[in-house]
Amino acid sequence: MIKVFEPCSLGPLILKNRIIRAATHEGMAHANGAPTDDLLKTYRNLSAGGAGAIITGYVSVKQNGRTFPNMRMFDSDGYVDVYKSLNDQLKQYNAPVILQIAHGGSRSMSRVTGQEVVSASPRRKNDFGDRVKEAGDSEVRSIIDAFVAAIVRAKAAGFGGVELHAAHGYLLSEFISPVLNRRKDRWGGTTENRMRIVTEILSGARREVGKFPILVKISAHDEFKQGLTEAEAVTIARMLQAASCDAIEVSCGYGDFMHTVRMTEVPVDAVLGLMPRYRNMPSYQKRLFRLIAPLLAKVRKPISNYNVRAAELIKRSVDIPVIVVGGIRSLQDITAMISEKGIDFVSLSRPFIIEPDIVNRFQNGQDRSRCINCGYCLIGVTANPLRCYYGKVPAGIRQK
Ligand SMILES: Cc1cc2nc3c(=O)[nH]c(=O)nc-3n(C[C@H](O)[C@H](O)[C@H](O)COP(=O)(O)O)c2cc1C
Ligand code: SF4
Repeated sequence: MIKVFEPCSLGPLILKNRIIRAATHEGMAHANGAPTDDLLKTYRNLSAGGAGAIITGYVSVKQNGRTFPNMRMFDSDGYVDVYKSLNDQLKQYNAPVILQIAHGGSRSMSRVTGQEVVSASPRRKNDFGDRVKEAGDSEVRSIIDAFVAAIVRAKAAGFGGVELHAAHGYLLSEFISPVLNRRKDRWGGTTENRMRIVTEILSGARREVGKFPILVKISAHDEFKQGLTEAEAVTIARMLQAASCDAIEVSCGYGDFMHTVRMTEVPVDAVLGLMPRYRNMPSYQKRLFRLIAPLLAKVRKPISNYNVRAAELIKRSVDIPVIVVGGIRSLQDITAMISEKGIDFVSLSRPFIIEPDIVNRFQNGQDRSRCINCGYCLIGVTANPLRCYYGKVPAGIRQK
C-alpha cells in the first residue's frame, strides 16, 4: 500500500505517487480550438486532488484530425501562451500536466474540419457518413511534422510532457493495426512498417526536444480476427523503447467504445437523451432503438482491470515504465498491480470525473471509486462539457 504513495520516476519526471489521471476529453473548447475557462477550473480541481500526474484530454495536431467541435486544437503557436499561463498556475500542486496529442484519422468529421477525412487505408464511410481517403506519402509526412511541431510547442507551453495517442482507433492506432492498415508501401505490412509513423514522430521529436518526456498510449489487444495480439503488442512495446519512448500506457480496442471504455450495460438512455440525432427521433423509432441498441453494442466483460494481463506481459519485456488503464476502481487492486504484477503506474479516467480528488480520498481511507461505469459521461462529452451524470440524464438537458 505504501508503495502506491511513494515517489516514482516516469522517465525524467519524478511523480509523487503512482496514480495518474488518464486522458479524458473535456469538451471544453471554443470553436477556434482554444480552451474555455472551465478547463482551468477542471485542472485546478484535478491538480489539488492528489494525482501523481494528469494526462489531458486529446488535442489535435492538425485541422483534418479534429473529431468533435469541442475538441481542443494544438496546431499553431497561437495556443502556447494560454497553456503556459495554465501550467504556471498549476505548478504549485506538484502534479505534472502531460498533453495528449492526437490525430483523429477516420474518426474525424469533415463537417467540423472542412477537409477530407484521411486514415491509413480507405473506407467507404466512417461513423459520421464521411468517405475516408488513404493518406498519401506526403500527407503522412505532414502528419509526422505536425506531431513533432506539437511536441516542440508543448515544451514551450510548460507541459510536463506529452503522450502520443496511438490507441482507440484514432489515426496512429489505425496505422499500427494489422486489420485497419492494408497498405503495401513503407507505412504498412510488417509490424515495423505499421509502426513507422510513430517511430518517425519519436525520432523527429527527440532531435528537437532532447529529454522532454514522451509517453505513448497503445491498444494492446482488440477483437478483430487477425487483429492485434498481446504478443504483437510486446513487439510494439520493444520498438517504442528502442525509439526512445519514456513510458507506455496500455489500453485496448479500436473505435468500439463498449470494449475500450467498458460499461455495465449499453447506455441507451444516455444516447437517446444526449445525442441530438437520437433525441429528435419519433417515439416509434426510439422504441426500436431501445430494442436493437443492446444487440448492436455488445457489453464486454470483465468490467474491471481489463488491461492488466497485457500490461504485465509488456512490463516483463521492457525496461521503461508501464502504465495500465481500464476499469481500475479500488486501492486494493491498484496495490496488487504495483506490488505483485510489477506494473509501475495505474491510470484512471472516470473515477476522476465523479471524484476529482479520488487520490486524496484513497490516501484518506476510501477504498473504492464511486463510479458505477454507466458511461453517460462519454456520451455526454461529445457535445457538452465533461461531467458525471451518474446514470441519469437530467430532464431538459440541451446539446449544442
Ligand atoms: C469521457 C471520456 C473521455 C475520454 N477521452 C479520452 C481521450 O481524450 N484520450 C484517450 O486516450 N482516452 C480517452 N478516454 C478513455 C480513457 O482514457 C480510458 O482509457 C478508459 O475510459 C478506461 O479507463 P476508466 O475505466 O478508468 O474510465 C475517455 C474516456 C471517457 C470516459
Ligand atoms: S457518468 Fe459518472 S458514474 Fe457514470 S461512468 Fe461517468 S463518471 Fe462513472
